[in-house]
Amino acid sequence: MTDGFSPGLAGVVADKSAVGFINGQQGILQYRGYAVEDLAAHSTFEETAYLLIEGALPTAAQLAAFSDELVGLRAVPEGVLQLLRALPKDTHPMVAIQAATAALGGFYPLNDVSDPVANHKAALRLTANLATITAAFDRIRKDLPVVAPDPKLSHAANFLYMVNGVAPSEDVARLFDVCLILHAEHGFNASTFTARVVGSALANPYACVAGAIGTLSGPLHGGANEAVLKQLNEISGPEAAAGWLDEAIAAKKKVMGLGHRVYKVKDPRSHVLQTMAADMFKAHGSTPLYDIAEALEAYAATRLGPKGIYPNVDFFSGLVYQKLGIEIDQFTPVFAVSRVSGWVAHWLEQLVDNKIYRPSQQYVGAKDVPYVAIADRG
Ligand code: COA
Repeated sequence: MTDGFSPGLAGVVADKSAVGFINGQQGILQYRGYAVEDLAAHSTFEETAYLLIEGALPTAAQLAAFSDELVGLRAVPEGVLQLLRALPKDTHPMVAIQAATAALGGFYPLNDVSDPVANHKAALRLTANLATITAAFDRIRKDLPVVAPDPKLSHAANFLYMVNGVAPSEDVARLFDVCLILHAEHGFNASTFTARVVGSALANPYACVAGAIGTLSGPLHGGANEAVLKQLNEISGPEAAAGWLDEAIAAKKKVMGLGHRVYKVKDPRSHVLQTMAADMFKAHGSTPLYDIAEALEAYAATRLGPKGIYPNVDFFSGLVYQKLGIEIDQFTPVFAVSRVSGWVAHWLEQLVDNKIYRPSQQYVGAKDVPYVAIADRG
């Protein structure tokens, strides 16, 4: 940082938060103080969302009431489905879910965000609806009928049911549930910061989450999971991984799924996902891409490890999603289906002691230039 200027706001403390804790040197991630590894092992998405939004782990009765409320908020208005149907079939799903999320603000107007009860309901509605919207657009673009949510299924199982039209097995639903837990929260990342910036202007929560979805769609953020699979497909086999990486580094290409602004060791979520992927491939048959990913990781540790560049959450998540039958361009939307719980937790936190974000700039343009009439300009 020089003269208060830090490109990308790196190292700048923009606000206080009690939602997520990250230690990038030690590879620690905690949601409200709980290790993400413990939540992945013992929690469910609903319980994790409760923890993030309400601030503490629920009792059994609180969790049941929260889950019921989410179930009651799953359906989306027919007008939102019409909006999704009006989009070109080849629209990227991130574009579609961003548009539909912003449109919710028309169906559930919340222009005054001073009522905590209404805000809380909107936070839960967004958490519930994003899964329905994401699944609905996937069906619509394939000319398949939209599948209505099944109130008997968990959030994770219901999402897969709405995508595929059949309920997943218990173990598949649990694997997906863990993926949702791992992606739910990550401090002041770019999309969460976007949600907070939009929220700091007291805009409606649907606008906050739509803005966050736009940020998440970028390949330097959530879009990396999609890019990782494309990248692994470019490598002909594990033996070709080292040569591919040497060429990428020589061409100064960013290797997708590696590196992180905060983590300078392997991302803790990547550890969990890698173990999950290994177990899943052992039980249900492997994919050549997994061997390529492992070879790439091992060689990257020698070439990029000394610079603190290691696998991030996106390095293994795509392999797991692919095995679960989720299509490549649905990987980032699935990230949003989970992260929305973190976004709304941050939005609610932002409103508690709000100050509109308005950083300073270092002006580098011209000054005091005399105006020249258009006829006199060369
Ligand atoms: N592959 C190769 N080199 C990388 C790299 C990667 N994935 N990520 C960082 N680097 C290198 C940069 O080239 C740069 O090298 P230099 O100092 O020799 O110029 C150095 O590491 C710092 O990179 P920088 O882009 O300034 O770091 P950052 O903190 O701004 O970037 C990311 C963080 C995540 C944007 C970056 O690591 C990246 O683009 N990763 C790939 C995309 C990805 O997986 N995103 C998901 C994040 S969860």
